[in-house]
Amino acid sequence: MPSARPVPPASRPVVAALAALLAAALVGVGALVVPLVAPARALSPAVVLASDFESGLGGWQARGAATVSTTSVGARGSGSLLVEDRVDPWDGALYPVTELFEPGTTYTIGLWVRLPDGAGSADLRVSVQRDLDGEPSYETVTTVEGVTSQWRQVTGTYTPGPFDTASLYVESVSSPVDVMIDDVLVTGVRYTPDLSVTPVSDAVSVPFGIAVEPQDLLGGRGDLLAHHAEQITPGNQMKPDAIQPTEGTFTFAAADSLVDWAVEHDMRVYGHTLLWHQQTPAWFFQRDGSALTTSAADQALLRERLRTHIEAIADHYRETYGEYGTPGNPIFAFDVVNEVIDENEPDGLRRSDWYRVLGPSYIADAFRYARDAFGPEVQLFINDYNSEYPNKRAPYLRLVTELLAQGVPVDGVGHQLHVEVGRSISMIEDTIEAFEALDVRQAVTELDVSAYRDSGEQWDAPPAARLLEQGYYYRDMFDMLERHAASFESITVWGLEDSRTWLRSGAAPLLFDGQLQVKPAYWGIVDPSRIGATPTATPTVTPTPTVTPTPTVTPTPTVTPTPTVTPTPTVTPTPTVTPTPMTPTPTPTAGAGCRVAYTTNDWNTGFTAGVRVTNAGSSALTGWTLTFAFAGGQRVTQGWSATWSQSGSTVTATNAAWNGTLAAGGTVDIGFNGSHTGANPRPTAFALNGTPCTVS
Ligand code: XIL
Repeated sequence: MPSARPVPPASRPVVAALAALLAAALVGVGALVVPLVAPARALSPAVVLASDFESGLGGWQARGAATVSTTSVGARGSGSLLVEDRVDPWDGALYPVTELFEPGTTYTIGLWVRLPDGAGSADLRVSVQRDLDGEPSYETVTTVEGVTSQWRQVTGTYTPGPFDTASLYVESVSSPVDVMIDDVLVTGVRYTPDLSVTPVSDAVSVPFGIAVEPQDLLGGRGDLLAHHAEQITPGNQMKPDAIQPTEGTFTFAAADSLVDWAVEHDMRVYGHTLLWHQQTPAWFFQRDGSALTTSAADQALLRERLRTHIEAIADHYRETYGEYGTPGNPIFAFDVVNEVIDENEPDGLRRSDWYRVLGPSYIADAFRYARDAFGPEVQLFINDYNSEYPNKRAPYLRLVTELLAQGVPVDGVGHQLHVEVGRSISMIEDTIEAFEALDVRQAVTELDVSAYRDSGEQWDAPPAARLLEQGYYYRDMFDMLERHAASFESITVWGLEDSRTWLRSGAAPLLFDGQLQVKPAYWGIVDPSRIGATPTATPTVTPTPTVTPTPTVTPTPTVTPTPTVTPTPTVTPTPTVTPTPMTPTPTPTAGAGCRVAYTTNDWNTGFTAGVRVTNAGSSALTGWTLTFAFAGGQRVTQGWSATWSQSGSTVTATNAAWNGTLAAGGTVDIGFNGSHTGANPRPTAFALNGTPCTVS
């Protein structure tokens, strides 16, 4: 059932003069509490709480064992809040924000703190307690180290998830010293999307979906989602760890809140995922705390657990929303198995715990159990990433072909498409065409386009030129997908807006920015003629030195065309674009025998790298070897389109049988997945058959 607390709009009157409010708050009127203003589109913050303790506690209360009173010593005026009698670190002062905070809105919380004279020093913390369905969450807004008897100003930002009740409080990290607090000022910004623009779903002939979390249904985000999508995928809430954290305990509340929302908004739901090697609790693979073996009894146990898990999900949604395929039940498809391919294994199958205990049979079993449980109305998908790379495409194609030949009920093939600006679209099209030869539907399941070309790039927000390039990339991607529209069941992007991407900060891979405004990426799909004309709504863009548009530089396309190289079609500047370079002019670093373009797409501790190697010499190569060195302790975990090896930091990639001949001017795309430990600096020197390459 919905866990989001609805916010009745009528209870939030519009207050006209924000500036006046702010001024009033600062001159001091005790505690001023104002409902958050919803500006039409303006993004100015509204004051929701201002406490100066000049005339009483103003609604502040003791937390735990503490007592609170006011003093005559203020940070700026002549009063502050004094917290005494604390026993535990979490004893402190609190302000109830249940009526003040709105889930999904971002608040800036500022206040002053100090300790009484002679109290030494302590680390303090500003926190929020958020209670939902009787479960408390304690969330840190900011920690202030080494507070002494001097006033310190503290600021933090906070975006609450859903709650029944919530309170803002000040505590300490460890020692329960007395604390003084003053001049609390909390402001909030509720971003309002522009709902007059064309819905993305109207511009795409295939059903358009967005992967979401519960926060995406709230406030302006919910409005944005409802406007543009016609189906949703739960980002995490239907994964095994969310649905069955311990054996026999099924927790559907979070997933149901998404499905309920879909029903209310007349949308379809694409389920994700019944089986995966990640986000799956350890108990699946244990008996009495010990790892399952390949004994017949253990295999039977794991198979039974898989069947039970799938049946429980299918039964729950049938019981809650009616039979599949009837109007009340929005679930039309499910990822049955996710990421089971490993192109580096002889049989192309990932060595997961599922494989270790059951061997390859678990894949067919999962589909059969799913068909039995869900019936014929739910389309059963297999889903994987990097399916565009030839080395991954091949085992993926082989597996699906074999499953179909065995009569296994596979209805569809998903391509996640977690890509970055510039990843070859023709390679993606090749994969789509390869699967069109089979009797399956297809889906783009998790599309996002990182603005980072590689892990060497880092910024708070992408430079404007890169956002334009991303717009053209989305245009080209959707042009290509439209050519294959008849093959596609749906196209889903993995996230609503850039502030909530699963990729690292600054990747900005989605269609809307963190202020819920359309990006060039949106126009790339809806009306490419407006890519260059769109205000990019990124006031905080800090151009990084790697892409500094300089008016004196002649515009260069992504890859400097040489007579023998086909320029990549992914970024075609159109006349509407101010002629700024899309990428820096490659600076030759060595040699002219080869060129390398190295791109990565990073997540927490992993990354996918694409390496485009161009033979810039005047004669063909018959057999080639590329070498380079990692600078940050990275490891290659699996590669494609070449034979990969690593010794220390040195990586060697030797041609595969099918791409050993590299014509003069010819290009080969190879790639790999790697791991890193937080930083992922890009290699700076590459050599092809011992000759140093230029790097772009
Ligand atoms: C991601 C979620 O978006 C993150 O919130 C979570 O921390 C990790 O998983 N491939 C998949 C998705 O199939 O389930 C993953 O989702 C992204 C990669």
